[in-house]
Amino acid sequence: MTAVVDLGGLGFESGAHLLLRRALGPLSPGALLAVYGRDPALRVHLPAWCRGQGHRVEMPSRPGGPVAVVVRGSAVSDRWSGAVRSGSPHPGAVVERPPASWGLAARGALVEPGGPEPLFAFEERDHVWADIAPRLYAQAAARQWDPATAIPWDAECDLPAEVESAVVQVMTYLVENEQVALLVPARFIGGIHPHFREVVQLLAVQVADEARHMEVFTRRALLKSPQLGTSSAGGRESLFTLVKESDFSLASFLLSVLGEGSFVDLLAFLERHAPDPVTRSAARLALQDERRHVVFGVAHLARQAEADPGLHGRLRTAIERRHDVLADTAGLNEDVFDALVVLAAGAWTPEAVATGFARVRELQQAMDDGRRRRLERLGFPADEAAELSRLHTRNFM
Ligand SMILES: [Fe+2]
Ligand SMILES: [Fe+2]
Repeated sequence: MTAVVDLGGLGFESGAHLLLRRALGPLSPGALLAVYGRDPALRVHLPAWCRGQGHRVEMPSRPGGPVAVVVRGSAVSDRWSGAVRSGSPHPGAVVERPPASWGLAARGALVEPGGPEPLFAFEERDHVWADIAPRLYAQAAARQWDPATAIPWDAECDLPAEVESAVVQVMTYLVENEQVALLVPARFIGGIHPHFREVVQLLAVQVADEARHMEVFTRRALLKSPQLGTSSAGGRESLFTLVKESDFSLASFLLSVLGEGSFVDLLAFLERHAPDPVTRSAARLALQDERRHVVFGVAHLARQAEADPGLHGRLRTAIERRHDVLADTAGLNEDVFDALVVLAAGAWTPEAVATGFARVRELQQAMDDGRRRRLERLGFPADEAAELSRLHTRNFM
């Protein structure tokens, strides 16, 4: 029995090959397909297309009959022969070392051989991966908030001048740190093999998080004040050591596990002692995001530490090296320390200032406890974790 396809007025310049390929698909080699159609160019284009595809074609010239009868070829040319699937598209289904040729294809696509082989600085699973990445990305995407509406910008915010200027100083410091928290992952994203899609996506959202943090802290700083506070050389020295770190694992250790980890405590402190609803809500929203950044850093390094027994030594060296580089710098901007005391004091009596001071000391203790906990989570023994936490930058990040 001869199969039939009617192309109507459709020619090869408008997609006739789609109907033909669909009609030929289920036929076995040698089977016949009668092709009807009105496009005058079919008599030229149809034989040419069939030859290119490995089909034979007969052109009967019976009035009212088909334009052509195609005999389905047996060795139908297939440009996809030799193509391989670049792994699996499913969340988290990654291989240990994806070939460079997979890099620009969607993970799980059938990849035609012969394309470019771009180099990626991070092409090994153990160097970037964490099993929690797909879940964390989904959570991060779901929890994006809009700075314009998530914060009560119009709320009552008339603070005494010194308190307002303490807020401005803390915000100035936060923006500076957020900028670096954006810069560091942004630098690495392009170097990660896209096979590790969920890590790339997660870091991209992390960068977007930091962009929002920069925005809301800047906006809070300028809410009542025409200008920002101070930026100390020591603070920037500390941040510069993060910017300069070119190893993904060491950078995510110093930034996420230690720096952002300490910032989680700082933001919780600001949420607690914020003198106004705008500051409180900005701190709370940033805190939610930062927790995720820390979770990824810890998960990725804990996984890597299991696979690579030499990692602990390198992490230790990274902290020590950074400590030595920063040994002669002032660390935390004094203006920031004082501003935190003012916010935690809440009043200008000697007793209140003493309380504020004690609370900032408690904050530093909480940061140290958190760092030690996370270092232990990465497999450092308690005494070494305590020692390394003490060497962390006084700038918090
Ligand atoms: Fe941030
Ligand atoms: Fe962050």
